[in-house]
Amino acid sequence: MVDSPLPIAVLISGSGSNLQALLDSPSHRIDYVISLVVSDRPGAGGLERARQAGVATEVVSWDEFGLRTEFTEALCETAEAAGAGSLVLAGFMRILAPIAMERFPNAIINVHPALLPAFPGAHAVEAAIGYGVTLTGVTVHFVDEQVDHGPIILQEAVAVRPDDDAESLHTRIQSVEHRVLPKVVSAFSRGELTVQGRYVRWDHAPREATIR
Ligand code: GRF
Repeated sequence: MVDSPLPIAVLISGSGSNLQALLDSPSHRIDYVISLVVSDRPGAGGLERARQAGVATEVVSWDEFGLRTEFTEALCETAEAAGAGSLVLAGFMRILAPIAMERFPNAIINVHPALLPAFPGAHAVEAAIGYGVTLTGVTVHFVDEQVDHGPIILQEAVAVRPDDDAESLHTRIQSVEHRVLPKVVSAFSRGELTVQGRYVRWDHAPREATIR
């Protein structure tokens, strides 16, 4: 419990199931409050989830900006105007320009459907299946200037089954995402995460890997 919840902006591009998990978490409105949901495209399904929950939405359309820096600036300004102290990238498929990390230092969180540094990029689940790995998973990390690269906050492994296709594997990965992302955002909002170089210290929990 913190004195007042940390306002956050959640950035989405798609269906927003991770946004839903953040909305539904008991930590919402206690540790953090979603003050704004921003999509880079008007048709993102997550926008409707936000509206249903009574959360403000904005579209900062990628197509309207010629340059990544301009797009990022508009996005940061929108989030700052909503009072956001953090950006949570929940299925947000655009790469932010470095100016975002200057404006939200160690305060941008991303969820990625693989065990980084394996399988960065937009097709991590397909890449894991294609490579033939038997373990993949979820990484929640701070965002830095490189893609899918910043300090790792939490990882959890997910076994790849012999009969998995990308859809079945992604479904199991997402159920882990929905559990761990609110946990991380909650810990961040309570000021319990400390970045030390590439390492993130959890002040009230051991830094440990979870394998199920
Ligand atoms: C998640 O699997 C996330 O890891 C990836 O995109 C997916 C977004 O799903 N970056 P959703 O929009 O939260 O349902």
